[in-house]
Amino acid sequence: MLWDIEALKKKAQEEINSAQDLAGVDAMRIKYLGRKGIIAEIFSKLPELSAEEKSQTGKFANELKFFLTELINNKVQQLKTIDHRPKTVDLDITLPGIKPEIGTRHPITQVLEEICAIFTQMGFKIFDSPEIETEFNNFTALNIPLEHPSRDAFDTFYIRRQKLLLRSHTSPGQIRVMKKYKPPLAVVVPGKVYRPDAVDASHSFMFHQVEGFLVDERVRFSDLKGVLTNFSQELFGSDIKMRFRPHFFPFTEPSAEVDISCVMCEGKGCSVCGKKGWLEILGAGMIHPNVFKAVGYPKNKYTGFAFGMGVERIAMLKYGIDDIRLFFENDLRFLRQF
Ligand code: DAH
Repeated sequence: MLWDIEALKKKAQEEINSAQDLAGVDAMRIKYLGRKGIIAEIFSKLPELSAEEKSQTGKFANELKFFLTELINNKVQQLKTIDHRPKTVDLDITLPGIKPEIGTRHPITQVLEEICAIFTQMGFKIFDSPEIETEFNNFTALNIPLEHPSRDAFDTFYIRRQKLLLRSHTSPGQIRVMKKYKPPLAVVVPGKVYRPDAVDASHSFMFHQVEGFLVDERVRFSDLKGVLTNFSQELFGSDIKMRFRPHFFPFTEPSAEVDISCVMCEGKGCSVCGKKGWLEILGAGMIHPNVFKAVGYPKNKYTGFAFGMGVERIAMLKYGIDDIRLFFENDLRFLRQF
């Protein structure tokens, strides 16, 4: 026999078994089973052999070919399923963990909740009202007719060819509650409102308001004064004084703008109050009969008061913040102080 097939088998077996990776096994496949490999070479030399040698060698070479093919395939499988993860892990379980960062509640959220809590204590219920409103709820039902010049004062973002809008105040919350429930009612409606205002130190296209109203038989203006005085003193301290200035709102009659004595100078006059000693904090009044009519309440049966305040403005006064943009810039150096 020209080739020692047994020795060849042994050598091939050793080489294949000691292959470290798939590339190594592949090199063995080429070396032994490839087109120009050792087995192919044996077959190519068969015609040179005698008849007897030919059949012997051919048989052995074929057996070797099947044997090596199987061996190589098994080795490939074995390498593919090998766990390549490091056997030991460099982990110190006694090290302190990474502390999760704990945020603070946004100052507007805090003030909003504080305002709502004061009214809740006085027996008011909180009502959530949608930010997308109808023209009817935002204007018409609040006695602001379509072509009335007072609508100019409530510049508004309209949606889908003016059928819907982003509420420009929380007052439509009054309409939604009154359409659904009968008096007696004492409700606050907190939430976001939107106006197409250019952003500056005191304006934002989105801000927060708290609307409040109380409806029953024989509710008087003095009830409004009592509720708002208690509210201001709870929020700003018992030394705070209030004053009501006559004003115009379409949905209340009479209407007033309500001032508190300046929280900075206690009424002496400073840059925050513009030397006036007073700060405007909300609008209020007795609910207009046309509003009761719009929600379907019987004529002359009920009276009520309503008020609306801007939360950013109150937060600015409470904390001495001079720029509304600070609330919305997400600067953690500012927000972490609350
Ligand atoms: N809706 C008014 C505004 O956004 C605020 C307001 C004034 C609400 C008087 C009231 C009210 O309920 O009685 O400017």
